[in-house]
Amino acid sequence: MGVKVKCELLKKEMLVDGIYKFSVKAPEIAKNAKPGQFLEIKVSETGEPFLRRPISIFNIDGETIEFIFQVKGRGTELLSKIEEGKQIDIIGPLGFGTYKVQEYKNVAIIGGGIGIYPLYELTKELKGKANLNVYLGFRDKSLVTCEKDFEAIGLNKLVVTTDDGSYKEKGFAIDFMKKDIEEHMVDMIFACGPLPMLKAVRAYAIENNIPCQISLEERMGCGIGACLGCAVKVISGKEPRYGHVCKEGPVFNAKDVEI
Ligand SMILES: Cc1cc2nc3c(=O)[nH]c(=O)nc-3n(C[C@H](O)[C@H](O)[C@H](O)COP(=O)(O)OP(=O)(O)OC[C@H]3O[C@@H](n4cnc5c(N)ncnc54)[C@H](O)[C@@H]3O)c2cc1C
Ligand code: FES
Repeated sequence: MGVKVKCELLKKEMLVDGIYKFSVKAPEIAKNAKPGQFLEIKVSETGEPFLRRPISIFNIDGETIEFIFQVKGRGTELLSKIEEGKQIDIIGPLGFGTYKVQEYKNVAIIGGGIGIYPLYELTKELKGKANLNVYLGFRDKSLVTCEKDFEAIGLNKLVVTTDDGSYKEKGFAIDFMKKDIEEHMVDMIFACGPLPMLKAVRAYAIENNIPCQISLEERMGCGIGACLGCAVKVISGKEPRYGHVCKEGPVFNAKDVEI
């Protein structure tokens, strides 16, 4: 269970139009955070909107936590207006299902859009434990972020794709991943991104018998298992049942959930 803390906004940066990176001082959260976990952030002082917004942890650096978000609606719009030096009310780290970091031989890490952010801390932690091939897919050039951050980790391979070919490779990241896996098998795929991408990655992994962990960034309400706002069909037991993405996830073994 996460802790509720007031965190000072140390640095605010607009990476591209509408996408912001916040660095906050959060020692209580940083000391326990694991790759794939998220924060529930209060976006205004007024209590409106009522619900906190879930945002993934991008980077943990000592006592500092970084997160990156795209302005989608009122909540993230309000969040983007907070100024450096102000306090932000954050609960974290949340989620019991995290990416499993251990020794692997070859790993493929695939992210799409805002789904690339929880994969950065994971990639950092896997460095030295596996050969890392990372595939980052974006709709177009205007949404490309964090390429340099991933590059700086020191990867075996980094592929950046845009659907329309306006930057780097044209097409879907999954197709580049599949082509590489045909040549060199991987022993784990880690994924996070929009639902159509996750469905395709899950299907491919199951079909080819490749272990795969996916992060489901479903829409959430409370973030702590109290509202059923994040139900997902879990098919790992004898009988299918509905589980909570916020508590049991957000990371699941691909074969254990139906999406
Ligand atoms: C575990 C988790 C981790 C997340 N991590 C990040 C992150 O690192 N960076 C980031 O930018 N966003 C992330 N999100 C998505 C983020 O929480 C939503 O974009 C945000 O809550 C939207 O709030 P809003 O008030 O601005 O928009 P709202 O007014 O609530 O919604 C505006 C629009 O965004 C859509 N929307 C809202 N939530 C989601 C969602 N979860 N997925 C897709 N579309 C949505 C709505 O359907 C609507 O069309 C994450 C979500 C979850 C559940
Ligand atoms: S968000 Fe409320 S139960 Fe998961």
